[in-house]
Amino acid sequence: MIHASSLVLVLAAATAAFATTAPHSAAKLTLSSAPSTPSARRARLTASPAAANDTSEQLFDYFNGTDLQWYGDISLGTPPQKFTVVFDTGSASLEVPGTACGLPCKNQRQFNSSASSTFQDQDFATTITFGTGVGVDPVDGDNWELWLEFVADVLSIGPDFNVPLGGFFLITNQTSTFSPDPFDGILGLSPDGGSLFDSAGYPEIFGMLFTHEDAGGAELTLGGVDTTKFTQPLVYSPIVDDGWQLSSQAIHVNGKSASSLVFNQSLTIIFDSGTSNILFTEDIALAIYKLISPDIVANKDEPGTFGIPCHRIPTLPAVIDITFAGIAGQPAFNLTIPSSELSSGPFKSKPEVCQTLINVSEGFNLVGLSLLKHYYSAWDIAGARIGFSPNGF
Ligand SMILES: *[C@@H]1O[C@H](CO)[C@@H](O)[C@H](O)[C@H]1NC(C)=O
Ligand SMILES: *[C@@H]1O[C@H](CO)[C@@H](O)[C@H](O)[C@H]1NC(C)=O
Ligand SMILES: *[C@@H]1O[C@H](CO)[C@@H](O)[C@H](O)[C@H]1NC(C)=O
Ligand SMILES: *[C@@H]1O[C@H](CO)[C@@H](O)[C@H](O)[C@H]1NC(C)=O
Ligand SMILES: *[C@@H]1O[C@H](CO)[C@@H](O)[C@H](O)[C@H]1NC(C)=O
Ligand SMILES: *[C@@H]1O[C@H](CO)[C@@H](O)[C@H](O)[C@H]1NC(C)=O
Ligand SMILES: *[C@@H]1O[C@H](CO)[C@@H](O)[C@H](O)[C@H]1NC(C)=O
Repeated sequence: MIHASSLVLVLAAATAAFATTAPHSAAKLTLSSAPSTPSARRARLTASPAAANDTSEQLFDYFNGTDLQWYGDISLGTPPQKFTVVFDTGSASLEVPGTACGLPCKNQRQFNSSASSTFQDQDFATTITFGTGVGVDPVDGDNWELWLEFVADVLSIGPDFNVPLGGFFLITNQTSTFSPDPFDGILGLSPDGGSLFDSAGYPEIFGMLFTHEDAGGAELTLGGVDTTKFTQPLVYSPIVDDGWQLSSQAIHVNGKSASSLVFNQSLTIIFDSGTSNILFTEDIALAIYKLISPDIVANKDEPGTFGIPCHRIPTLPAVIDITFAGIAGQPAFNLTIPSSELSSGPFKSKPEVCQTLINVSEGFNLVGLSLLKHYYSAWDIAGARIGFSPNGF
C-alpha cells in the first residue's frame, strides 16, 4: 500500500521522541486488487527455527483463490491486545482501530487505550488517504480515508519481538470502504524502520514467504531469513531512492522486449507486499499487453484496469521477466511473473471478462504479491538491498 498523502510518518522506536516526517514521492496508492471474495482461510502452521534474535510469524491468506493478500498477528499494549495486520513494505507506519472509532470499525478489533498501562497519547491527529482500496471497488476521490490519532505503546510480534513504539496511529474513523477487510490494521515495514529492529535487539532484516494457499507455510521472519524456506542462494539488488525500490534495466514478455521496455536502469520499481497486483505507467503497461495479446483492452467501467474474455486466459502465454541490477560485482538478474498470474479474476460488472494483472498508474511503477509470491524475499535494511530466491510456487 502506498499512501496517497504527501507526508509519511515513520514507525519510531521510543528512543526517538516523535516519529520523523519524511517527504515521500507523490505516489498514489493501493490497498490491493484481486477481484475475488475475501476470505480468511488460514495457511497451514509451520514450524520454523527461531533464534533468540529472530522470530517467525505465520501469515494468513486473505483472498480465496488468488493468494495475493496476506496478514498476520501483532499485539499492542500492556497487557497485550491482539490485532491482525497486513505487513506492508509499501508504507512506513502502523494503523489499528481504536475504541473511539466505534461503529465504522465494528468489524475489526479496537484498541482500548484505557486498558493498557503503557499507553501514551501523543496529542496529534491526522488523516491518510489511499489511492485504491481492497477488491474491485473503484477509487472515487477520498473514498478510502482513515482518521487517525497519534499515540505510543508497546508493540509485540511473535514470542519475543517487543519494542516500545514511540509513534503509531489509532484509527478514530474510517470510510465504509474499509469494513470488509478481514484484518484489523496495517503495519508498514519500510526501510526507515531500522530503529525498531535495533530496539528489539534484532538485526535489521526481515524475510517474507508468500505461497499458494494450498501449500501453506507463508510467513514473516523478523531479524533474519528462514533458510529452511529456500534452496538457491539469495540474489540481491540494491535499493534506490526512497523506500523499497529497485532499479530495472528491461522487461521481456515471453522472451521478447520492445523499445519502451528497455530502461538502461532508469526505471525504479516499488516492491510492495501490501498490494496484490502490478502498477505500471501507461507506456510500459501498453507495451507489455501488446506482447501478450492485442485483445487485452482497457475496461472503461474501471479506469486503469484491463481485461480479456476469461476463456482466452488459458491459451495465452504471459511470462514477464523483469531485469534488475545486481549488487556491486554481481550480475543483473530476472524476476519472473509466470502466466498463471495473468488473470486476477472476472470483473464484477462483466463476469465474462477477466481482469489482467497490470493496472495503469499515474507516474509510478510497483510490483506486489503476484511477483513476490514466487520468491522467498529478504528485506535487508542494514544492507540497503532486497534478496530473492525462487520458492518453487
Ligand atoms: C486496479 O484497479 C482496480 C479497480 O479500480 C482496483 O480495485 C485495484 O486495487 C487496482 N489494482 C492495483 C494494483 O492498484
Ligand atoms: C543473532 O544474529 C547474529 C547475526 O546478526 C547471528 O550470527 C547469530 O547466530 C544470531 N543468533 C543468536 C542466538 O545470537
Ligand atoms: C473459496 O472459493 C471456492 C471456489 O471458488 C468456493 O467453492 C468456496 O466456497 C470459497 N470459500 C470461501 C470461504 O469463500
Ligand atoms: C476499556 O477498558 C476499560 C478499563 O479496563 C474498561 O473500563 C472499558 O469498559 C473498556 N472499554 C471498552 C470499549 O471496551
Ligand atoms: C466518520 O466518517 C464518515 C465518512 O466516512 C462521516 O460521514 C462521519 O460523520 C464521520 N464520523 C465522525 C464521528 O466523525
Ligand atoms: C531475462 O530474460 C530474458 C528473456 O525473457 C533474457 O533475454 C535475458 O537475457 C534475461 N536477463 C538476465 C539478466 O538473465
Ligand atoms: C539506453 O542506452 C543506449 C546506449 O547508451 C541508448 O542508445 C538508448 O537510447 C538508451 N535507452 C534509454 C531508454 O535510455
